[in-house]
Amino acid sequence: MFFNKSPGKSSAVRCVWLTGLSGAGKSTIAGLLHDRLNAQGLHSCVLDGDRLRTGLNADLGFSEADRIENVRRVGEVAKLMADAGLIVLVAVISPYRAQRRLARGLFAEGEFLEVFVDAPLAECERRDTKGLYAKARRGELKNFTGIDSAYQPPEAPELRLSTVDLGAPACATRILQRLGLPD
Ligand code: ADX
Repeated sequence: MFFNKSPGKSSAVRCVWLTGLSGAGKSTIAGLLHDRLNAQGLHSCVLDGDRLRTGLNADLGFSEADRIENVRRVGEVAKLMADAGLIVLVAVISPYRAQRRLARGLFAEGEFLEVFVDAPLAECERRDTKGLYAKARRGELKNFTGIDSAYQPPEAPELRLSTVDLGAPACATRILQRLGLPD
């Protein structure tokens, strides 16, 4: 962890776990956080669902069993990266509470920060940045989270950020504050 030891800058948190619907803003916030941490000399990495699904998790789809395995793998990689000294920024829907709890359990108390990136389904569907909600509504995409596949919102996240009320830069600021880091 030597390369993340800058004088005056520290955080016990090793993993920031962003959970929420597709289109809620997880990846955007993770990207901004990555840049801001980098600007402070703090090394982080982003584990993004879309990206991981093109490689490590390319064998997985969106059935319940596949999502469980997807999130299990992401948790394990997050732990490896954190042990290597990085601050890990996870951006995956991770729809099930049980799997998020398992991921949390890989870390020591205070090292895991669950952030609920909260935007109502109607808003995510309105944004529909990837056109996937429209596809799901047309029945061309099955098991779409929020439409015909469940999302279990966190009951007690360390942070809940409404991306209806706050833009992504303000969300990143709130997380940095929670980490005890300058903006
Ligand atoms: S998770 O449920 O297993 O945690 P993950 O975050 O890896 O999901 O992937 C979600 C991304 O996959 C979405 O942002 C979207 O771009 C894409 N995607 C494709 N099909 C689906 C689907 N059926 N449900 C949700 N997301 C989907």
